[in-house]
Amino acid sequence: MESRVAGAGGQDWWMLPLELPATAPSYRSVVLRPFEPRDVGMLLDLSTDPYVPKIGTLPAHTDEAGALAYLDRQADRLVNGAGYSFCVADKETGEALGTAGLNLGPIAAGRASAGYSVAPRARGRRVAAQALTALTGFAWTVPGLHRVELYIEPWNLASARTAEIAGYQREGLLRRHQEIGGARVDMVLYATLRPGR
Ligand SMILES: CC(C)(COP(=O)(O)OP(=O)(O)OC[C@H]1O[C@@H](n2cnc3c(N)ncnc32)[C@H](O)[C@@H]1OP(=O)(O)O)[C@@H](O)C(=O)NCCC(=O)NCCS
Repeated sequence: MESRVAGAGGQDWWMLPLELPATAPSYRSVVLRPFEPRDVGMLLDLSTDPYVPKIGTLPAHTDEAGALAYLDRQADRLVNGAGYSFCVADKETGEALGTAGLNLGPIAAGRASAGYSVAPRARGRRVAAQALTALTGFAWTVPGLHRVELYIEPWNLASARTAEIAGYQREGLLRRHQEIGGARVDMVLYATLRPGR
């Protein structure tokens, strides 16, 4: 089913079911590929992170059934046009390392937001920055997209550094911007712009 989204300047976007790119986006040692059932082990590890369950739909300390249900939800996002959800994997081996997503909720206004996570056992080698670079390159293939935004809590220095390594600029502090884990929290807004405009 397709739905119509009214855009700025009188344009309309037809939000058809999205399709993953024919060529998986990649940068340096990572590739962004569709999730597969073999990624459950990575998701079990990721679900042990205290922050990840607060900012997404992966339950804390989940089991195999919970991880498979999460995979179904990621596939649904593509079908209903909500956005792209990729597994971040090692380019050589295909081993799952984390997640990277592009949320197209604000696409009618020419914006999207990105999110990422790396399984605890795969951290410490700039995987998220590589994934974000690949994701951002892919984002510019989306028609009508001018800005990709990141919303990062001020304490999250690993994420802020990831944003900077991937070429995002800090734009400001959004006070009590949203609720996370039952509390209103500040967010630092980072963004990058479509090149050449
Ligand atoms: C944020 C996250 C994706 C980064 O994972 P990663 O790619 O393995 O990150 P790394 O450990 O390689 O660190 C990336 C950079 O941040 C720096 N960094 C990491 N922890 C830091 C800290 N506590 N203080 C300051 N800098 C830190 C690293 O030194 C590195 O920079 P450098 O290579 O220039 O030295 C990961 O921590 C995660 O999944 N966190 C939970 C989910 C999350 O917060 N997602 C983002 C939501 S906005």
